[in-house]
Amino acid sequence: MDEHPSRLLGSERTENITTPEYLFRTVDEVAKRLKPEAPVQCIFPEAVRAQARRFQDLFPGEVLYAVKCNPGADMLRHMYAAGIRHFDVASLEEIRVVRGLFRDAKLHFMHPVKSREAIRKAYRKGIRDFALDSSAELMKIVEETKSARDLGLFIRVAVAGNSAALDLSGKFGAAPSSAVDLLRQARKVAARVGLCFHVGSQCMDPKAYVGAIGRAADIVAKAKVKLDVLDVGGGFPAIYPDMTPPPLEAFMDAIKAAAKPFVDQGTELWCEPGRAMVAAGASILARVTLRKGRRLYLNDGTYGSLFDAGALGWKFPVRLVRPKKGGKGNTPQNAGALPPSEKLIPFSFYGPTCDNLDKMKGPFLLPEDTQEGDWIEIGMLGAYGSTMQTRFNGFHYEAVATVWPEAAPFAFERPRAQATLVTGVRPAPKPVTLARASRPAPKPAPAQPAQLSLLAPIEAEREDHPAAAE
Ligand SMILES: Cc1ncc(COP(=O)(O)O)c(C=O)c1O
Repeated sequence: MDEHPSRLLGSERTENITTPEYLFRTVDEVAKRLKPEAPVQCIFPEAVRAQARRFQDLFPGEVLYAVKCNPGADMLRHMYAAGIRHFDVASLEEIRVVRGLFRDAKLHFMHPVKSREAIRKAYRKGIRDFALDSSAELMKIVEETKSARDLGLFIRVAVAGNSAALDLSGKFGAAPSSAVDLLRQARKVAARVGLCFHVGSQCMDPKAYVGAIGRAADIVAKAKVKLDVLDVGGGFPAIYPDMTPPPLEAFMDAIKAAAKPFVDQGTELWCEPGRAMVAAGASILARVTLRKGRRLYLNDGTYGSLFDAGALGWKFPVRLVRPKKGGKGNTPQNAGALPPSEKLIPFSFYGPTCDNLDKMKGPFLLPEDTQEGDWIEIGMLGAYGSTMQTRFNGFHYEAVATVWPEAAPFAFERPRAQATLVTGVRPAPKPVTLARASRPAPKPAPAQPAQLSLLAPIEAEREDHPAAAE
């Protein structure tokens, strides 16, 4: 397969490799076929779609996908194929990407602080829902939409973030008394009004939502206005090593119970999950550039997909990927001649840039003979992984491999013991060719009419969305 996509991938040239010919059954096969020099994001469509459906089944209202956590076209297509039609967007670029893919998507601009240009252009593109947490922002929205009568205005309420691994309470959110005023003002000018909040990302306690919903109830009672939508935001947790939250069902049950008085009065519920929707839906396949003792220098790092591993010290699940190869001696030039050692030892990672901060202390357990040229699959990076990349020092990658069907090793809500895979435990994948005919047919899903859209070409981007009111 020398003429195959391996040629396309390299630190200086990356391509999107999700056309049907480039579907892989396992991550090992990605390494074997492509021998990628640059990192590759490996997406597991089945896991992504299953989680998107699960959210829609469990949540008693509308599920908006928070585009920021993974705005890749592939991820968005899987969301759409799983029935997601509402998207929480935070910038004109996110609007452009989602609109370019799906004309019938409903976009909601839930960033509480937007430029005037962004408000104006978003409105022209058909967006009607805007978040805000100050009267100055409310004024901007009214002015830039020329006092439109069809606005949906969402007051972002300040709530505690201390149950979350990533507290988001320091930047946005109106204090309750201001929220009361804003809600009254919004009610006068908007077609529909809502309250929204964010309990912090990777929230570990369902009670955080209960507290925030209680705060929303107080605000509505004081404002004495009809609330059309209560948006409980994102924050739902994923399962990372060392972080085992209650199951998603516990969050949903708590929200349902707390929000019942709203629902009884005809208020719609929305949520905007990002992390919990897609974290387990993708891995990064990185490569070891050099080993120095227990330090592994990788082609990905803190300025790439591993911001949370570097800046926050999160331990992501890792697994050595060393495609089997014939020959004697396990040199970097002949990596794969020998199977990896069964003994695991702790390593720390160092990224490709020259900056001192570009290190991830881990520890990450890998075979003791891990060496230059080996690949490492770093799991749970579907959310806030590739999207966090910078171009610092010239390092950047865009390659995406679709791994289908049952290859997600870090599947949703598996017990932790299984999440950190030990090389040798997983049965060796059967070799498959990359030809379209050899790919197992995806399970038919009649209830999901857009299933095939994954493989459909991206619709040409249109400035003049049909919903636009220009
Ligand atoms: C407005 C808004 N909604 C949703 C999200 C998604 O949050 P999470 O990824 O924690 O679910 C964020 C994340 O920053 C956000 O700012």
